[in-house]
Amino acid sequence: MSARLRVLLVGAGAVGQVFGKFLKAAGCELSFLVKEPHVASTRAGFTLQELSRFSHALPVSLSGFGVLVSPQEVANQAWDQVWLCVSSAALHEGTWVSELARVTGEATWVMLQPGLKDRDWLSQWVPASRLVCGMIPFVSFQTPLKPGDPSGQGMAFWFPPMARGLFSGPPERLQKVIRTLRQGGYPAHEDPDVVRATAVPTALLNVFVSGLETAGWSFARFQEGPSAKAVREAAREAVQIVEGKPGKGTPGLLRPLPLKLLLLGTRLAPFDVETYVQFHFTKVSTQTRQMMGEYIALGKSMGLPVQHLEALQAAVKEAVKEAVNAPGGPATPR
Ligand SMILES: NC(=O)c1ccc[n+]([C@@H]2O[C@H](COP(=O)([O-])OP(=O)(O)OC[C@H]3O[C@@H](n4cnc5c(N)ncnc54)[C@H](OP(=O)(O)O)[C@@H]3O)[C@@H](O)[C@H]2O)c1
Repeated sequence: MSARLRVLLVGAGAVGQVFGKFLKAAGCELSFLVKEPHVASTRAGFTLQELSRFSHALPVSLSGFGVLVSPQEVANQAWDQVWLCVSSAALHEGTWVSELARVTGEATWVMLQPGLKDRDWLSQWVPASRLVCGMIPFVSFQTPLKPGDPSGQGMAFWFPPMARGLFSGPPERLQKVIRTLRQGGYPAHEDPDVVRATAVPTALLNVFVSGLETAGWSFARFQEGPSAKAVREAAREAVQIVEGKPGKGTPGLLRPLPLKLLLLGTRLAPFDVETYVQFHFTKVSTQTRQMMGEYIALGKSMGLPVQHLEALQAAVKEAVKEAVNAPGGPATPR
């Protein structure tokens, strides 16, 4: 029998817990590297529940893993894989990535961050020969999502129909990641270049989320007000920038009718998507702002138009200021 894979997951939040569940089911020996304030809750273990439109699975517990807080503790063990389950913004905070790289030997690193420059940035410490890139095809969130929800405390996760978790990287290490996840029941698939494959959808998402924030996170207000038009114009610029060339018209998905259908379609999800979007993207707002800044900087450096992206960025700043100054402060979904 082959030895169990020793996997270190950095971050035990919404994404880390879900990957932890599947890697544990695949028989991996799991540890989480967490910040000090999360040690007690992580040691207590997690409860996860997979949502589906027709029948929710029973909640499952995730326990029996190590909890570490510093690179020094990480250095005391040997690792086969290191998974980065933090936001793109958190990746760039401080010097922890370089410290972790120093103490994890020849481990395969799996990065899931959407930032345009994240792979290149990480390659300062983790060579391409050890780096597997992935995208996240599920949504996950702390429950209850809003007051009155019947669900108990835990992490809910949902794979949209036909969701595929794409990964790319050096063949042998890539296959090991995919094989392991599949053993645990996760829909992992190979892609020639995940970073490239996800660049446009990620850009559209960031622009859409920024526009939604200017509409107070309301789908209805977004569609009725000026936000949808601003988003269409900014999205056109963002797509040109990530594709590196002047492009065509408005991305299809953001045209009025497809967008209307898409937002209507979210009602079929087994949770309130509008509330999830507000909750999640408020949580990772630094990452969204960082990526909008990256599109603008890159566009300028390539001589491509960015005025609509800049206008949207300014509108978000204004919306945040207004929300902070509103009676009772910014609305929180939970
Ligand atoms: N959840 C989803 O539905 C979903 C879907 C698609 C993509 N994603 C992406 O996945 C990434 C993670 O999102 P998430 O929802 O899992 O966020 P999350 O729930 O906030 O989890 C991230 C966790 O990582 C911790 N962390 C940050 N820096 C760390 C470090 N240096 N060492 C150890 N732990 C660290 C955070 O702690 P603190 O909060 O204390 O900083 C937090 O507990 C983001 O890029 C997000 O956009 C998420």
